[in-house]
Amino acid sequence: MSRYQRIVILTGAGLSAESGLATFRDKGGVWARYDYREVATPEGFARNPSLVHEFYNMRRRDLKTVAPNAAHMALARLEQEHRGEVLIVTQNVDNLHEAAGSTSLIHMHGELLKVYCTHCRKGCSWTDDLTTELACPSCGKSGGMRPDIVWFGEMPYHMDVIGEALEQADLFISIGTSGNVYPAAGFVAEARASGAHTVELNLEPSEGRSFFHEAIHGPATRIVPGFVDSLLAG
Ligand code: APR
Repeated sequence: MSRYQRIVILTGAGLSAESGLATFRDKGGVWARYDYREVATPEGFARNPSLVHEFYNMRRRDLKTVAPNAAHMALARLEQEHRGEVLIVTQNVDNLHEAAGSTSLIHMHGELLKVYCTHCRKGCSWTDDLTTELACPSCGKSGGMRPDIVWFGEMPYHMDVIGEALEQADLFISIGTSGNVYPAAGFVAEARASGAHTVELNLEPSEGRSFFHEAIHGPATRIVPGFVDSLLAG
């Protein structure tokens, strides 16, 4: 029986790295190959929607070739076996947490396999390529479909629910994130202010390392399963 009752877990691109999905800021990462202003901002989409569709179409296709890794599986096991609450707040837009069996999950930066219409705002699941010509399945208008991804300058999703969870948490774990992007990078300070014990699990010390009570560094598939075992063992 773990000593913690309400566990909040923030995950980032490092969790999916060993599944074969590139991180953003590591050497050779996504932002070393693409200018985020062109492919991950509303202004970039307005300027060149086809380029943005191409960027997300390639990442959506990549998603069909990868599987959850041992770290995703361990987090799903924690949710299933822990007798308290476990909430994953992920910055990742892949579906690997779901594929591993996690259900208590918030995608604060949106999801690659979802799109929405900028005319009627209706969203739907989408696994194929997106184009500027596609007509909205709801309102029938074309030219307005976009990835359901939170771009730079846009408000992340479910911040109210996340804020409440951080207030209630007695354990906050951050896995595979560089701690570069707010508001996610500020979650550890919020959790700490609410009295939670805070742990960083990452390949190397993140920007926010000094905010954490504890840190374990190494590849996620090696450090996360063991950490989950220790939590479940109490
Ligand atoms: N195991 C554990 N951690 C890893 C691994 C691994 N195998 N590989 C890389 N990491 C760590 C890196 O050390 C780095 O600290 O994962 C982190 C990845 O950092 P980023 O590439 O910055 O990704 P992330 O923190 O998720 O970015 C946050 O920025 O661009 C936006 O919306 C995008 O959600 C993303 C957000």
